[in-house]
This record gives sequence, structure tokens and C-alpha cells, in this order.
Amino acid sequence: MKHIEDIPHPEFHQPSSPELPELSDENFYFISKLVRDKFGIVLTEAKRTLVMGRLHNVLHEMNMTGFDEYRTYLQEHCDTQTLADLANHITTNHTFFFREPEHFSFLSKVVLPKIAEYHQQMKNHDIRIWCAASSSGEEPYSIMMTMMDYFGPRYNEWDAGLLATDISTKALALAEKGEYHESTLQHMNTTHLHGYFDWFEEEKFWRVKSMLRREVTFRRFNLLNNYFPFKKPFDIIFCRNVMIYFDNEMRKRLINKFAAALHPGGYLFVGHCESFGRSHPAFEYVMPAVYRRL
Ligand SMILES: C[S@@+](CC[C@H](N)C(=O)[O-])C[C@H]1O[C@@H](n2cnc3c(N)ncnc32)[C@H](O)[C@@H]1O
Repeated sequence: MKHIEDIPHPEFHQPSSPELPELSDENFYFISKLVRDKFGIVLTEAKRTLVMGRLHNVLHEMNMTGFDEYRTYLQEHCDTQTLADLANHITTNHTFFFREPEHFSFLSKVVLPKIAEYHQQMKNHDIRIWCAASSSGEEPYSIMMTMMDYFGPRYNEWDAGLLATDISTKALALAEKGEYHESTLQHMNTTHLHGYFDWFEEEKFWRVKSMLRREVTFRRFNLLNNYFPFKKPFDIIFCRNVMIYFDNEMRKRLINKFAAALHPGGYLFVGHCESFGRSHPAFEYVMPAVYRRL
């Protein structure tokens, strides 16, 4: 069955040319192992056609005749750029603004008031948020709009920062540009649309206003990394709809690393099909797919 996450991102996956070759078992297993070892993404047999479609585009771009040639290339050039290109093609970047909207109302009604109160008690004004697996920017910009709506004119009194990371440099480049076709914004309420975006009639896209864009820092970061290089703990982490691609072991390790990266009382938001029960030693279950660091 085709998972919703596997629907190609409109900006990413061009149709592949029909005469390109099949992906043999041997080549599929080689690529699956590489992708799992380097990015944590599990490509089961059910994903073979999807992988084939996505990598046909790589063959086309690299002028290669078949997957044997691509495999040899991967074996000989396992450098950062080659792996980044592979990640750009293999990852699923499906996302949209205010996805799982109950998370954003909970953020505004419960989480931000609590976090603001905590920092007032600590006598500082630094609010730190991390959107891990931010794809093409819709999620971090939705978080930022929620923050700005909540604080209103008082927003500038806070030293609020949002770090948005992803493994796909292609997704990050789109996110940094912050330009979205009108069809991707058709369900956004007009207050958000006119308050946070500018319309470009000729190009027919909306661009995130710079006052919103400059509040988000985009960086490449692989969630498989053992070391999380953050100097200070976060108040809130969003990591949604990416753990479904990882195996149980990787998910467990990641959740423990998120626990270490949050300060006590901080919140973790995961995707609705990524809840991890109610008995984690470091987290209190708050509501579906939301946890609070103990
Ligand atoms: C389906 S999108 C989810 C986007 C957004 N979080 C949401 O919920 O709408 C999954 C994202 O995870 C990223 N990703 C996959 N494996 C990753 C890894 N090992 N480290 C960091 N990001 C990864 C992909 O590049 C993709 O942009």
C-alpha cells in the first residue's frame, strides 16, 4: 500500500524516463543497506518500486546506463556529496502547513504559556525550539507563526530561536527560500496568509515574510548522529513523521537523545503514528504524540 508519506513532493521528484532499467535484488540490497547505515531509513521490499522510481532520476542526471554503474559509483565515491545527493533523492519530504493542527493549538494554549512562565521564573528570555526533520519548511514556519501569534507585540521581548534541521539539502534549500505555490497554501486562514506571506503575482507564489524567515535557522543534521552538538537544552522539540522510517532500535536511541537534549519540563512532539506509549522513564505522556520531559 502506498503510504501518504511516499507521495512525491511536487518540487522534488520529476517523472523518470520509461526506458530506464530494472533494479536487481543485489543492487536493491546494496542501496537499502547503505541508506539504512547512513541515514537510518529502512527500505523494505515494499519500497522497491518507489526506490527504483526515485533513483531512475539519479541515473538520468548522472548519464548512467543502469544500476550496476550507479552501485559501482557509490562503492567508489562514498563521500559527503554523494551521500547528500542520495539522501536528496531517497528521502520522502511530504509535509504541509499546520499538519496535525491539534499540536499547534496545544502549543499555543498550554506549552507556550508554561515555557514562558518557566523562563520568567528563571529570569531569562531565551526560548529554544528545535524542529528536527523540517523538510521544506512548512512545519518550522507553522511553529514560528504560532509563537508570534501567541506572544504578539511581546515577541520581541523574547530571545526566541527556532533551529530547523533535515538531512536533505534540497529540502533545506526550499525551506530557506520560503516560496510556496498558491496550491500549498489554499487551506491556510487568511490572517496567517496575509500576516506572514507576500504574494508575487508574476511568479504565482507566496513568500514567507522576512520577519518570519529570519527567526528560523536551517541546518543540515543527520538524526542518526551519535553526538548531538547543542550547547544548551531545548524547551520544545518537534520530530514528526520521520521516525516511521527508522527501526525500533534507532527510534529508541533517538528518543533517549531527545530526552537528553530537552530541559526538565520541556516538550517533545512526535507524529501521530509515532507515539511511544506511556511508560518511558524520561517522559510523561501528555496527549497523543506529545510528551513532557520529567
Ligand atoms: C515526511 S517528512 C516530515 C516533515 C515534517 N516533520 C512533517 O511532519 O510534516 C520526513 C523528513 O525527514 C527527513 N529525514 C529522513 N531521514 C533523516 C535523518 N536520518 N536525519 C534527518 N532528517 C531525516 C527527510 O529528509 C524528510 O524531509
